[in-house]
Amino acid sequence: MSDLKIYPPSAEFVARANVKGMDAYRELYDRARQDPPKFWSELASQELAWFRPFAQTLEWDPPNAKWFTGGKINACYNCVDRHAASERKTKPAIIWEGEPGDQRIITYEELQRLVSRFATILRQLGYKTGDRAVIYMPMIPEAVIAMLACARLGIPHSVVFGGFSAEALKARIQDLDAWVVITADGGWRRGKEVRLKDAVDEALLECPDVRNVIVYRRTGSAIPRKEGRDLWWHEQDEQFSGAQLVQMAETCPAEELDSEHPLFVLYTSGTTGKPKGILHTTAGYLLQTSMTMKWVFDLQEDDVFWCTADVGWVTGHSYVVYGPLTAGASVVMYEGAPDYPAFDRFWQIVEKYKVTVFYTSPTAIRALIRQGDKWPEAHDLSSLRLLGSVGEPINPAAWEWFHRVIGKGRCPIADTWWQTETGAIMIAPMPGVVPLKPGSATLPLPGIIPDIVDTRGVPVGDNREGFLIIREPWPSMVRTIWGDPKRFEEQYWSRVPGAYFTGDAARRDENGYIWVLGRVDDVMNVSGHRLSTMEIESALVHHPAVAEAAVVGKPHEITGQAVCAFVTLKKGDWDHTALGKELRQWVAHEIGPFARPEEIRFTDALPKTRSGKIMRRLLREIIASNGVTGDVTTLEDLTVVTALASQHDDD
Ligand code: PRX
Repeated sequence: MSDLKIYPPSAEFVARANVKGMDAYRELYDRARQDPPKFWSELASQELAWFRPFAQTLEWDPPNAKWFTGGKINACYNCVDRHAASERKTKPAIIWEGEPGDQRIITYEELQRLVSRFATILRQLGYKTGDRAVIYMPMIPEAVIAMLACARLGIPHSVVFGGFSAEALKARIQDLDAWVVITADGGWRRGKEVRLKDAVDEALLECPDVRNVIVYRRTGSAIPRKEGRDLWWHEQDEQFSGAQLVQMAETCPAEELDSEHPLFVLYTSGTTGKPKGILHTTAGYLLQTSMTMKWVFDLQEDDVFWCTADVGWVTGHSYVVYGPLTAGASVVMYEGAPDYPAFDRFWQIVEKYKVTVFYTSPTAIRALIRQGDKWPEAHDLSSLRLLGSVGEPINPAAWEWFHRVIGKGRCPIADTWWQTETGAIMIAPMPGVVPLKPGSATLPLPGIIPDIVDTRGVPVGDNREGFLIIREPWPSMVRTIWGDPKRFEEQYWSRVPGAYFTGDAARRDENGYIWVLGRVDDVMNVSGHRLSTMEIESALVHHPAVAEAAVVGKPHEITGQAVCAFVTLKKGDWDHTALGKELRQWVAHEIGPFARPEEIRFTDALPKTRSGKIMRRLLREIIASNGVTGDVTTLEDLTVVTALASQHDDD
């Protein structure tokens, strides 16, 4: 490690930073460690607006945590109303650019009106606190407005990423038992319309309990409409005409909710075929997402903050919506693809809106590196002062490029480690404090006690690889898996008793820096998106030609990992080339285009242990060791491997 280049923060950055110098960090970290309830309760009182103050900071009955009990609060009020009632009222809350180039700037004051109007629509349709809504939208302000309107009424929402298929959408609507779906006719991606409403119609064929679909008109294309069920957003909104009605709609009160009121459920891939509904609640989640805006993104009043994630993922929830808005920031939001119409779209947006903090994924960085430096060099990126990375380990080469070509050597990079389950960033540098080592998420944030342990839960010591765990509860932690508390306990709290099991492997170096190495379970990370091998396998075996399937991740230059599927077929005379294409398409239809296998390999048998478990580790080794690529490859010699493998009973 000694030849590694270290990047301390510049004096210029430190001079303006919220937290300056290692001593300040240590003081905060130690204070949080010595008396967590005191630390968090002080912050919660200072940072959040309460209808009624909380009585107790933490009730911890592992694995069940309740934070800030006795308090009454509302997430939407904290994100919108309190800013609209302050000097921030004319400050842009959302700075939005559509893929075709249209733009909207919505101030906090306007956001309050828009959110209230939509909350009124939901209320008039009879939806109330505790009912559930699914949001399936493109990256347009109405996605945020819908989320906040639900939060205003205490309606837990589940945002389903627009790249998920009708099948995946259906499974989520059913699991959540949602009664209302909020969507759009479509959205723009690489100049083409993504037809969301069509997918909703297909999903709802098997969701009889959905009473309404509210459709925002984005693309203006013709869509079928089911009488009584489907409602246009704008038609519902038009009913508020005349001063009195408008006044009524725009003063829809925010419900006074318990601190632990469910805010949202976000589905993520686990180690089984069924996605897990990760439940986050209100006060603790808001506190930690907004504190990390200050600690990690060093948020200042004049920042223009751009997190490129889609609101369908946790990064979008925490760092497009709830974190930055709770903190009163101006948030940039972009609808489309980074390479449309050309590879400088990101840099054009940074220049146009004078973005100061830019947070994206290693996959996006690697894809842009490939296009060469001329794209960023054509733009004035001098507004940038801080960069961030999330979703997967960032390789040092991509880090260095980001630092040099985008940050011009001036901007620290916050490599942020966290998960859907953690709600907020857990391990990341405070940029005015921590000297950076490319590829390391560096140090834990205040209140976070990570450890690296072996299979028995014993710490492994410096520079040794082990399982990453978190020892103490934190405010934004997952509360349960929706409808499955047993799975919650088993998945996260039974591997190392009393500690949260992350599913990641990591190493801590001699300076205490944490290096996250990747998943230790059957979860892949493709373009920073979490995919379950089992989920793709169960999609494949649904296909009539497929007997068995085993999916593993293979290293990929751009996306980190790519999906590779080994498939055995039922008896028949199959055209492998055609079937390979069909199966890739099939997975896209069952889950979403981002889960489409890059490679399908047909084989006569799969290597299994004597107890019948597929030996994925062996398959990973086969992929790593042979250079065979291409869509469709017949791997006859897998039969031999299989025979050999079955003599060993471990995986
Ligand atoms: O393996 C880790 C990886 O992404 C997983 C969490 O995925 P998800 O819940 O979809 O949330 C992604 C965005 C927070 C983790 O278990 N991961 C995330 N950030 C990093 C990372 N791996 C290494 N370095 C990171 N900065």
